[in-house]
Amino acid sequence: MSNIKWIIVTAPGGGVGQILTNYLLDNGYGVIGMGRDSSIKFLKTLTSPNLHLIECDYTNEKSMVDAFKQAKTLVDKIDGLVHLVGGSLITKSFLDIDLDSFNEVISVNTNSTLLAGREAAKWMKETGGGNIVFFGSTTGIEPSKGKLAYGVAKAAVHNMTLSFALEGSQYNILTNTIAPSYVLTQRHIDEIEIKAEKKGITVDEVMKQLGSKNPLGKVLETEELMDTVILLLTTKVIQGQTINVDLGQIGI
Ligand SMILES: NC(=O)c1ccc[n+]([C@@H]2O[C@H](COP(=O)([O-])OP(=O)(O)OC[C@H]3O[C@@H](n4cnc5c(N)ncnc54)[C@H](OP(=O)(O)O)[C@@H]3O)[C@@H](O)[C@H]2O)c1
Repeated sequence: MSNIKWIIVTAPGGGVGQILTNYLLDNGYGVIGMGRDSSIKFLKTLTSPNLHLIECDYTNEKSMVDAFKQAKTLVDKIDGLVHLVGGSLITKSFLDIDLDSFNEVISVNTNSTLLAGREAAKWMKETGGGNIVFFGSTTGIEPSKGKLAYGVAKAAVHNMTLSFALEGSQYNILTNTIAPSYVLTQRHIDEIEIKAEKKGITVDEVMKQLGSKNPLGKVLETEELMDTVILLLTTKVIQGQTINVDLGQIGI
């Protein structure tokens, strides 16, 4: 039997997901990508023998349970889960936010984390443990205008990390969360180009403005998240932490 380490990556077609999927494959991991829409499209462009694709609907309980059942037919055990599904989805003043929008943001960010995390943990419990990495956000720690729902949803993910760690320790399941600040994903690069053109300034000037929000004075590249993901996928001693990868933005 191969001794390859298998990692489930949800939303492998997202901005962070594409970089992470390639990074894991390049570094000898096997990837089971669980996703829909852009994730299916993206994974179909890759040809690695160490890659599997499972289609799923992240906020539908039956779909997620079935996705993990399908994963169990592909490999005997997983070593890790990286749950990337999420996004702020809406920008609305606290005075205008309606319950349907609020619930949607909670569902995509928090409910999906619970479903993927729970199913991964059940499997890891049967197979001797593993490492779970959730994605939170600095917006879950410090508010951002118009992002009430997203802040609440990510704060819930940060808190969920603690319960997973508390209850998972007995099964050798280590759960931690990465809380990034603004990440320079492809979507953000496209938005920056549009913003620069609209304002009649250069892309470098927009980057400078964005960088001025943190002490290190730059913008976080997607690739710069990879070290922390690997650390949390392999650690045997970091448990229940939400680690800000934010260029010192929070609390300094
Ligand atoms: N990018 C940033 O600046 C930043 C900053 C802090 C935290 N984060 C967090 O880091 C994680 C990855 O970020 P990212 O920039 O890579 O995210 P992204 O590309 O915007 O989205 C990730 C994936 O989430 C799924 N998704 C998004 N909206 C959805 C919806 N309404 N219903 C169902 N699924 C939906 C999609 O999966 P499919 O493609 O499979 O449909 C999408 O590819 C997210 O949890 C995000 O909140 C990002």
